[in-house]
Amino acid sequence: MARKIAFINYKGGVGKTSLIVNTAACLARLGLRVLLCDFDTQSNASIWLLKLERWNPINATGEGAVFSIFEPGRARVKDLILHNVVADKAGGCPLPGLDLLPTSFNLVDLESEYAGAPRRPAYLIFQEQLAEVEADYDFVLFDCPPNILRASQCGIFTANEIYVPSNPDALSLIGFTLLVEKLGRFHQLSASFRRTAMGPASQIYGIIFNAIKTGVDIEVPKMRMQLRLNQFKTAKRAAKEAKIFETFVRDAMVVRRAVALGLPVNLLGQEAAGDNVVRDYERLAEELVNSAPPPSA
Ligand SMILES: Nc1ncnc2c1ncn2[C@@H]1O[C@H](COP(=O)(O)OP(=O)(O)OP(=O)(O)O)[C@@H](O)[C@H]1O
Ligand SMILES: [Mg+2]
Repeated sequence: MARKIAFINYKGGVGKTSLIVNTAACLARLGLRVLLCDFDTQSNASIWLLKLERWNPINATGEGAVFSIFEPGRARVKDLILHNVVADKAGGCPLPGLDLLPTSFNLVDLESEYAGAPRRPAYLIFQEQLAEVEADYDFVLFDCPPNILRASQCGIFTANEIYVPSNPDALSLIGFTLLVEKLGRFHQLSASFRRTAMGPASQIYGIIFNAIKTGVDIEVPKMRMQLRLNQFKTAKRAAKEAKIFETFVRDAMVVRRAVALGLPVNLLGQEAAGDNVVRDYERLAEELVNSAPPPSA
């Protein structure tokens, strides 16, 4: 069964998208089948992996974007998935096994204009449709915006595991705390829609530190984060296995470059050769693979 994982923090700009895209790419490199679902209206992950020339037509019409499963509601997730999404200049796929469910800017309409039916919340519609394809994957990853509004809820409801990207600062800690609060409330509200086959409601399993500058000591922010995590574990608001990942991702210019080039950093070749940040993402992917919750969870 696919592991379904959301990356989210209530703090913006901590590196959710760059971590999820690069980790997804490393998982695919390990030979795993990965579906990345973009639930951020900003469409950063979609633009990154499709480059503007392939993403612009989707954004212009909304056709092919995830919002079309809600409005007009005729499309289905299985038909929207872009298989082997990364393309090289010759049109080949240098990274087989990485698929994308793309979004466009119209996803913002899910938050306001979309009414839907009260007994059919958007997250349930999405979860049911994802269930049709999840057996095709080892990992289904959800990139979420820094909130738990409707788009995020699709990821949070469908996922079983949550990982919290953080920077070593007080704002990330506040973002984490707020996330736990809002998550509890959302799980209460959505509990009546959960079925056994969906697996357990998503829980926090890990904190991932990102963009650590050379020479910066993160022991104190790490300790503060660990204390907060321990409180949540004691209160059963985070999984008992939850941990701060041993791997942290260093700050590196090439991460910003990768977006402009439309490739994950592990495909940058010469540009990233010798840059240890590639190794960070590889180790992160390995740590994620090795941190699978016990089957009973
Ligand atoms: N390890 C890193 N080294 C250098 N720059 C990074 C690193 N990680 C992320 N960045 C840069 O920081 C910025 C924010 O990263 P990213 O978009 O991944 O954050 P986010 O949490 O997804 O943001 P949002 O909340 O807006 O969705 C981007 O410009 C990204 O390229
Ligand atoms: Mg993002």
